[in-house]
Amino acid sequence: DEVGRIDALIARMTIEEKAGQMTCLADSFRPFNPPNPQAGIQDERRLAQEIRRGRVGCLFNGIGVAGARRAQEIAVNGTRLGIPLLFAGDVVHGLKTVFPVPLAEAASFDPALVQRTARAMAVEATAAGLHLTFAPMADVARDQRWGRVVEGSGEDVTLTALLSAARVRGFQGDDLRRDDSLLACPKHFAAYGAVAAGLEYGSVDISDETLRETHLPPFGSAFAAGALTTMAAFSEVNGVPATADRALLTGILRGEMGFRGFVFSDYTADEELVAHGYAEDERDAARLAVLAGVDMSMQSGLYVRYLPELVKSGAVPMATVDVAVRRILYVKAALGLFDNPWRSLDAEAERSRIATPAHRRLAREAGVRSIVLLQNDGVLPLDPARRHKIALIGPFAQDRDNLYGPWAFYGDPGQGIDVASGLRAAMVDPEDLRVVAGCGIHDAVEGGVAEAVKAARAADVVILAIGEAQDMSGEAQSRTTIEIPPVQQALADAVAATGKPVVVLLRHGRALAIHEGVANANAVLATWFLGSEAGHAIADVVFGKVDPSGKLPVSFPWESGQEPFYYDRKSTGRPVMGDGPTEYKARYATTDNSARYPFGHGLSYTRFALEKLRLSDTALRWDDQIAISARLTNTGERRGSEVVQLYIRDRVASRTRPVRELKRIERVTLGPGDSSTVRFTLSRSDLEFVGAGERRQAEPGLFDLWVGQSSTGGLHAQFTLYAAERPSGPKA
Ligand code: IFM
Repeated sequence: DEVGRIDALIARMTIEEKAGQMTCLADSFRPFNPPNPQAGIQDERRLAQEIRRGRVGCLFNGIGVAGARRAQEIAVNGTRLGIPLLFAGDVVHGLKTVFPVPLAEAASFDPALVQRTARAMAVEATAAGLHLTFAPMADVARDQRWGRVVEGSGEDVTLTALLSAARVRGFQGDDLRRDDSLLACPKHFAAYGAVAAGLEYGSVDISDETLRETHLPPFGSAFAAGALTTMAAFSEVNGVPATADRALLTGILRGEMGFRGFVFSDYTADEELVAHGYAEDERDAARLAVLAGVDMSMQSGLYVRYLPELVKSGAVPMATVDVAVRRILYVKAALGLFDNPWRSLDAEAERSRIATPAHRRLAREAGVRSIVLLQNDGVLPLDPARRHKIALIGPFAQDRDNLYGPWAFYGDPGQGIDVASGLRAAMVDPEDLRVVAGCGIHDAVEGGVAEAVKAARAADVVILAIGEAQDMSGEAQSRTTIEIPPVQQALADAVAATGKPVVVLLRHGRALAIHEGVANANAVLATWFLGSEAGHAIADVVFGKVDPSGKLPVSFPWESGQEPFYYDRKSTGRPVMGDGPTEYKARYATTDNSARYPFGHGLSYTRFALEKLRLSDTALRWDDQIAISARLTNTGERRGSEVVQLYIRDRVASRTRPVRELKRIERVTLGPGDSSTVRFTLSRSDLEFVGAGERRQAEPGLFDLWVGQSSTGGLHAQFTLYAAERPSGPKA
């Protein structure tokens, strides 16, 4: 029925109207901050005219029901065909209630939590008149110099796949037609997280195997969770810009992955095919993009300008355009827009569903769960019942402009809880907190260090709030080093020299390489950009109201120069073995290959012991499963949570395999002295990799297995996968 209705509509559409449906423009009916400073905002009167002429199918990045209604009114009642508009926006980690940045939330290693926050974001976004969010970012980020690490789930394919699917489920809810269902757009297809040297918008040169094995699976799981749109990456893959890559956007995305929704270009990315040196001019760029499989052009307006002529001249078949329009209309229908173009445009919902106390509570919970305790000599937690003279030092001590992180442009910074306010609210006597900035984020302040040192000397404990500004990560924020700005490092060193106990609160949108006064602190907490409830969440952990339980979704290397750095690297022919010789081995001269804090690392205020690793069998038959269990005991004095992680290594294969690969995670909460048995199962499909001929396959042979508390160490066992045809013995 729906298909018939859409086909009948397409049959009535002119090529100009079709090109209009394939066009998404920044929304000037509603106040918004353009995320991209290059953005020209179209004049509202002109935009109204464009809608009336059927030359726009989607508006993006404006919020507010009244403006959206005005625009929808024109589309539905003022155009020849009355096709409703789709309203999209970058609700990446919240609307008015700002949740932790996605990378921070990934540290929870908890799909259920990220699903809940995505749901809350959807409730707010749809109440503000949006139908679609350009999220989640499903790119696996392999180089911490890349600014967009902050928008995803880190360096690992399994974690990114799990969390991307959870976010899609959260955004979309159970029924796409519901007023509070927010369509997801997993982005950026594909391998954007593999840009060379972490350079934003840069080139990706990658094997088919790595593309398929590391970068595509999170998209696969997001589509399987129901996502009906995606966005082509700005970057090129192996010499072809993704926006013009038919093999990628049609062959792989649709042919292999079975994607049935529609593809956005990124912001003016079709136009940029000219600068890439791939298209001759704008007309050629429009032709290449549509033939590759870009259904919806974002912001450039190329499709309305060139598709009519391209079709008339025969350069683009009408059938190609019809397929794209059909996909877009199908998505609009799936959202129920044809039956109710006013869905998600309810002024009462806008009043009652945004920035609610329940969302603030969830933001605080998510904030706490995102914090990672990197090291602690026992200085934390501070006793909440005692008075402590605290010197809170650093440019982020009282700062509200860097609480949220990038892509939170709908949130009001004035509503965020800064660190000083959060700590004061948890202290016996708030007067015991002395706040000194000491320096700016990048610049020294005259007398600042001296004042900080004086405050430190007078205190029982120093809390140092240092790190990156929020505009140091996000789109177009690649860095050449991942260190803390030198002026802050100097401040930390001076404070450390006082000999007072120091707790470092790192603020950051990526993994950092930390040194001296920071690295040698008594405790270090990764606190990322935690959003609206940042200060409260930090205080909850500092004073031990909640036990920290986050785990690193990105490895913190010793030095910036180790990037690109990720735990699932290859062995090489000359690996350094434990404490063995290092000459003529695959290593840097100045540092070894380990991380300061590895992927999956994160401490607690209590202690956990893992023991009794058991496998149901040391043989895994081709179509069988293997059951794995281990006993986790809370050996400390406090209640706490641990994320038990299962890694494997395929010892010999027709394509070399990583030294470890994460396969399972399980969060367990235990009271002091309590134990629990953690159980996993693995089957052949968990052992597959992309081998020759780009096929996923498992190969018989020996596998290592670790069950542990991070990507290093853990309990070790081995098992053998036996080939189907030879159940009695391994093939290799
Ligand atoms: O969704 C974003 C994308 O991730 C980067 N460029 C702009 C788009 C729309 O704001």
